[in-house]
Amino acid sequence: MIKTKLTEIFNVDLPVIMAPMFLVSDEKMVKEAVRNRIIGTFPTLNYRETDKLNAVLQNLNKFITETENPGTYGVNIIVQKSNPYFKKHLDICIENKVPFYITSLGNPKELIEKVHKYGAKVFCDVTNLKYAEKVVDLRADGIIAVGQGAGGHAGSDPLQTLIPALKEKFKNIPVIAAGGIATGKALHSVLVLGADGASIGTSFIATNEAPVSNDYKKAIINAEAKDIVMTERISGTPSTIINTEYAKKIGYKQNWIERKLSTNPKTKKYFKMLIQVKGMKKLEKSVKPGNYKNLWIAGKSVQFINEILSIEQLISKLKKELRESTENKLFLKK
Ligand SMILES: Cc1cc2nc3c(=O)[nH]c(=O)nc-3n(C[C@H](O)[C@H](O)[C@H](O)COP(=O)(O)O)c2cc1C
Repeated sequence: MIKTKLTEIFNVDLPVIMAPMFLVSDEKMVKEAVRNRIIGTFPTLNYRETDKLNAVLQNLNKFITETENPGTYGVNIIVQKSNPYFKKHLDICIENKVPFYITSLGNPKELIEKVHKYGAKVFCDVTNLKYAEKVVDLRADGIIAVGQGAGGHAGSDPLQTLIPALKEKFKNIPVIAAGGIATGKALHSVLVLGADGASIGTSFIATNEAPVSNDYKKAIINAEAKDIVMTERISGTPSTIINTEYAKKIGYKQNWIERKLSTNPKTKKYFKMLIQVKGMKKLEKSVKPGNYKNLWIAGKSVQFINEILSIEQLISKLKKELRESTENKLFLKK
């Protein structure tokens, strides 16, 4: 359909990455993305036990060789020092020759150097030009520009300024837009801004395959953009969530003791680890059925998500809408 640097590098049909989502994207979802010729990704933290991660990667590699005309897959590794699984997970991914990595939070130097040795590609999440310069200097193969309203650790800049600014500075490197993209029209708009593709997260939560409770999926469908708020109460770093009763009850900011402990050089690393472990436990409970203390991560694109589809249907819908938008039918309809 549309050729961009992303579709050319990874030989996929649509310039779309199914974004890595903690406790959501799993082997089954990634296989569906691959089968439908896009790029499916998942965070390695979704398989903390190394044997399990190893088995999933072996299954995905086998699936790719057995699928006619497959897309591809990648993993997301949090490269921040407070990720205790960083080294173990990276080693297993290298052993399995994972073709694509998305790094977030921290310094990706070690990961980039190690996986480039066997030709894997590394795209780094960035929210501003300064960090983008840093990862490009470290030889990142692409940048994922995370803008306002994205699910998870959203950026503070709108994609309308972030994408053109990054494209102007880094002419030859693929720039992928992330945040608020749920329709083919929105995908078209970021391509017009100069992006080489989109990384889409929240929309894939409301799919049949997503291994989360129906309550979470329904909350995505019922929520509007105004129901998405930022909270520091999950990992310390601000993250977007649906404003559930529980979110309102616990508030959105860290208290002064927590803030002190997470900035003091002596306590910073361990306190952040502690907060993250506690946050992970709360999120784990929230994705399961029958929980009332719900902290559900989602971005502002909930505004445009109105039904639960299969991943195949969602990708077809994006393709159809993109085609209509590029053919200008939507403008003509006015
Ligand atoms: C439920 C959820 C979990 C996420 N978990 C991660 C994660 O573990 N690592 C990461 O780099 N990004 C994570 N993200 C961010 C996504 O990878 C992506 O940048 C974002 O979803 C794009 O914005 P959108 O949700 O508006 O499409 C998460 C997003 C959501 C919605």
